[in-house]
This record gives sequence, C-alpha cells and structure tokens, in this order.
Amino acid sequence: MKKYAILGFGVVGGGLAEVMADQAQKLAAAAGEPLELGYILVRHDYPDSPFRAKFVRDFSVIENDPEVAVVAEVIGGSDAAYDYSRRVLLAGKSLVSSNKQLVAEHGAELAALAREHRVSYLFEGSVGGGIPLLRPLCRCLAANRIDQVCGIVNGTTNYILTAMDTQGQDFDTALKTAQQLGYAEADPTADVEGIDACRKTAILADLSFGWNVDPDAIPTTGITKVAPADLELARALGYTVKLLGRAARTPDGCCAFVEPHLVPLGHILASVNGVMNACAIQGSAVGEVVFCGPGAGAHPTASAVAADIADAVRHTGNPMVPDLGAPGGALSPADELVSPWFIRADAAPDAVLAAFPQARPVYGTSGECGFITGPMTRRELAAPFAAAGGRAVWRVLA
Ligand code: HSE
Repeated sequence: MKKYAILGFGVVGGGLAEVMADQAQKLAAAAGEPLELGYILVRHDYPDSPFRAKFVRDFSVIENDPEVAVVAEVIGGSDAAYDYSRRVLLAGKSLVSSNKQLVAEHGAELAALAREHRVSYLFEGSVGGGIPLLRPLCRCLAANRIDQVCGIVNGTTNYILTAMDTQGQDFDTALKTAQQLGYAEADPTADVEGIDACRKTAILADLSFGWNVDPDAIPTTGITKVAPADLELARALGYTVKLLGRAARTPDGCCAFVEPHLVPLGHILASVNGVMNACAIQGSAVGEVVFCGPGAGAHPTASAVAADIADAVRHTGNPMVPDLGAPGGALSPADELVSPWFIRADAAPDAVLAAFPQARPVYGTSGECGFITGPMTRRELAAPFAAAGGRAVWRVLA
C-alpha cells in the first residue's frame, strides 16, 4: 500500500479525489499495490465534501509524513506550487502535476531534482487534459525523430471559437459558459490571449526536440482579435478558425509559435470542436499521428493525473522522468515560415486584385471581402496587405 496526497482542491483536485476513489481497484492494479489517499491540502473549507477528513492546511504535514510516496500538485500557477513541488522532490517523494505553467517554466529544473532524488516526475495532464499525449510522444514514438507538432491545445478558446462559428454566439457569452464548465483558467486572459497554449506548446517542443524552450520566447497571438467577420468569410472560403500551437524542427534548432489559423474544413483538426483538443505529431518513421480528446475539465484532467500517480508508484526505485531538454539557442523566426494567408479587407476589388492578382475574394454581410493568398512569408506579405486595405490577416494551415 502506498499513500498519496493532493495539493489543491479546485476543479482538477476535486475531480482527482473522485476518480481515485471511483477507480481504486483499477488504479491499484496499474500501480501494483493499493493506493491510499493520505491528505488533501486545502485553502478553504468544504464542509460537505466526502473527503473533508483528509483536509490539511499545513503543507509540512504532507512533507514530513514518510508514508506519503507520491504528491499530486494541482494548485496551478508558479508561486506556492513551485515551492511545494521542490519540497516534495527534496523530501524524496514522486511528484505528478497538471500544472502547465510550472512545467513550462520550471519543469527542467524539477526534472533534474527528481533524477537526483531517484523519484518520478510526471505531468501527463499538463498538455491536452485527458488525452494520452506526452507518454505516447516520449515512449511510443521513441523510434522517431519528431519533426513537427501542431495542435489545438486550449479547450477554452476552442470552445469559444466553435460557439462563435457554429452557433453565432458572441465572445463574452461563450467565454462565460467555458468558465462555468470549469475549462477556463482562474484568469481567463491566459486562455484567450494564447498564453496557456503557449506554455503547452513549449512543453511539446521540449519533449520533441530536446531543447528546453522558454515560453516567453514563443511568439503568441490569442483569439481576442478574431472577428465574427473572419469566421463568416473563412467558412465561405471552405475553412474554419482554430488557435494552433505549432513547433517544428528547423536546420538551426526549432521554431514555435501560437496563433489563430484558418484550417481547411476537410482537415482533421477542423472537426475538433468545443472543449476537445487534438495534436498532430509528425515522426520520421510513423508519419503523422493525431491524438484527440477532451482537453480540459475536472474528470478528463484527473484521468491523466490519476494514471501518473499509479505509474509513479509502479516505478518506485526505477523512476520515470521525461526529458524536458537542455537550454538551446534562440528559436528560429516563425515569420520566415512560408504559408498561405487569409486576408480580410475593404471591399475594393480593384485594390485587392492589384495587390494580389490571384485572389478570389468572397464577400460577407459586413461588406468586407476575404481571400487566401499564395504561399509567402509574413515579411513578403506586409506591403501587398497594406495596399489591399487589409484589416485582418491569419495564417492558413496548408
Ligand atoms: N484552461 C485550460 C484550457 C485548462 O482551457 O485548455 C486545461 O489545461
């Protein structure tokens, strides 16, 4: 029997306690021995919770209990969570986490600490919520040189874009529903400005290319400037809009970026709607594989964290610590990446056609037009975009 503790009792912490209790037998089989909930670190009272007998408010109770073998950090953020995570590892306990900010910003350091103390550090729930993604990337695709990862890695923004595109909902209503469903971050700015997707893209790049990528170095654009007119014109052209996190191997290392893309309606990522996430991975031997599933929410994320707890116990003495890479050089500039572009412009056909002779514009209810350019870099696009009276430009997934 091994004891585990949960740090945090928010959306994921609550879901984790439930999933661990519901699937105790299955998880014991996966771990190789029964798992017992020792403590839940809480900040507030939850007098009606069935788990209240396990609540503690003092982290050192968990830290100093030698029977606690694994600690799940589901607090989020990088303040208290960082301090506790270090102390968990220094105390010789395995650490599992769904905290993408902490993994992206301090994961390599925590991984080194875990190796030093011969304990596991697992974070499957940090990218893609309930999708088995990081373990397949690191283990099942071990025989591949990973060339590219491209994914919808934020459930809140995908929920909002889907609701705006398919139900004509406005941004604020869709965001409010995503918050009520427990998908959004405490401060949803991290979702809608692409920061959450950026952290997850950094983790995917770390694991794929062996460079520990600084999330602050990843050019990131969120969805707040995607207008209903963009969605309308995109659909008329045969596309939908998705926020994509992308990272690719380049001759100099790798490039990574997060921005809204037009995705052709026939592309597999175009059919990933609502809170679903998906990640396409290009491997040298396998070709392209796509992982898809619920990317946020209490039980999907808990599903990943619970399996990490079981694996950490199963690997006692032979710890699992994914390689988050070593510090690399500067990221290759994403602006040099050639792609077609979607442009929304003033409906002045002459100016559009003078700047983009191949354009086949469609017209929307706002009176603006939209069209797709030929492949070019963002730098090459700048002058004709201005000449055409461009109002918005989004990259097209080719
Ligand atoms: N806010 C995140 C999302 C939660 O919407 O994807 C899961 O990481």
